[in-house]
Amino acid sequence: MKITVVGTGYVGLVTGTCLAETGNEVVCVDIDAEKVLKMQNGVVPIYEPHLDVLFERNINADRLKFTTSLDEGLEHGEIIFLALPTPEDEDGSADLSYVLNVSEEIGKKIKTYKVIVDKSTVPVGTAEKVQKVIAANAVCDFDVVSNPEFLREGFAVDDFLKPERIVVGSSSEKATKIMQKLYSPFVRSGNPIIIMDEKSAELTKYAANAFLATKITFMNEIANYCEKVGADVDKVRVGMGTDSRIGKRFLFPGIGYGGSCFPKDVKALQKAGSDSDYDFKILDAVIEVNDTQKTTLLPKIEAYLDNDVSGKKIAIWGLAFKPETDDIREAPSLYMMKALLDKGAHLSVFDPEAMPNIKKMFGDSLNYANSMYEATEGADSLLICTEWSIFRTPNFQKLREQMIRPAIFDGRNLYNLDDMESEGFTYFSVGRKQ
Ligand code: UGA
Repeated sequence: MKITVVGTGYVGLVTGTCLAETGNEVVCVDIDAEKVLKMQNGVVPIYEPHLDVLFERNINADRLKFTTSLDEGLEHGEIIFLALPTPEDEDGSADLSYVLNVSEEIGKKIKTYKVIVDKSTVPVGTAEKVQKVIAANAVCDFDVVSNPEFLREGFAVDDFLKPERIVVGSSSEKATKIMQKLYSPFVRSGNPIIIMDEKSAELTKYAANAFLATKITFMNEIANYCEKVGADVDKVRVGMGTDSRIGKRFLFPGIGYGGSCFPKDVKALQKAGSDSDYDFKILDAVIEVNDTQKTTLLPKIEAYLDNDVSGKKIAIWGLAFKPETDDIREAPSLYMMKALLDKGAHLSVFDPEAMPNIKKMFGDSLNYANSMYEATEGADSLLICTEWSIFRTPNFQKLREQMIRPAIFDGRNLYNLDDMESEGFTYFSVGRKQ
């Protein structure tokens, strides 16, 4: 099939590349000429495991192309994916200007039937708005469907190629059939393509992200309470998670959720609720708890360092909002670093992928180490913000010898409490014995 993807951010790029992988002819459109040139030369503009292999293979097979011309894109595709940004507005709502501006252009330019697919995370009612904006100018038939994505950064290629489910909001039989045909190679395992109305599809995406953010936040509160009463959240987690109604996943406590999706989507749903005269009390609490959770280790670090971190050297391992990505948007590490810098600490940081992005934001205020052990050289404490695999089994003897005070503040509960004691570390984690 002939596909056009408008917007080559994270979602657009993965969508375009994976759709090319099943033999479709894909044209990706982006207004950023520099980025388009890079992609035309085979450079993947983001770090995402396995994407580079698929990218190269499909460019070489001539199935994946890039252009800055929306006209060219609209000429090509029978299905037009909108994978445009929906940033957070000042009031927390989702800014739809990119989606609606492109929709207006689509209305003016299409000459033959197209299915316009909303892939961006958009508030309930957006498909209706897109439909109206296109219809105001369109001279031909078209359908708008909502098709939210459920990709996780770091696993996006796998999630796209083997989705647990595909949600399609559509009120047109013709468009539904086209979408079913497009996605059929991805659901051979029997996983469902769930068809529903557009509004329900739009809400499914927000509800799923808000639920997961709530699940994590609930566990963070249980962890905080564990610390008060001397229980161990890791044991509670396993005890709870084996109940299949609860499930084992997304129960890991830590220093809060971050990233480009959960924080933005929870706020957008809360705002959309209040705009419709509905008060999502649970989301108010989730946002509040997550905000404080990001710096939950700060008072512990201060207390350990004689209530004065100024002039102390603190090493930080892990800066990305989660492992296997270079994305630092809303990363808990940012909040910890800002708070520690404000208090005069010297920070020596290391992350396997996110260092360039952190440098852009923090400039000369940090020491950028070339390895995890360079960061801990002469440190008064080590803070762990992201659970990259390489941090899971460090050389503890080396660490102990290098550090001035062998103390670890672990925001991701990577180590066994007994091991830490026998290795001679003062160890603080989240929701476990301190
Ligand atoms: C999330 C959803 O998982 C995807 O399904 C969705 O498509 C995506 O948002 C999106 O809306 O685009 P992502 O933001 O890539 O994906 O990351 P997650 O793996 O969900 O992690 C989000 C945050 O929750 C991270 O900060 C992570 O550290 C935190 N987390 C996750 C926990 O603190 N505990 C857990 O048990 C799981």
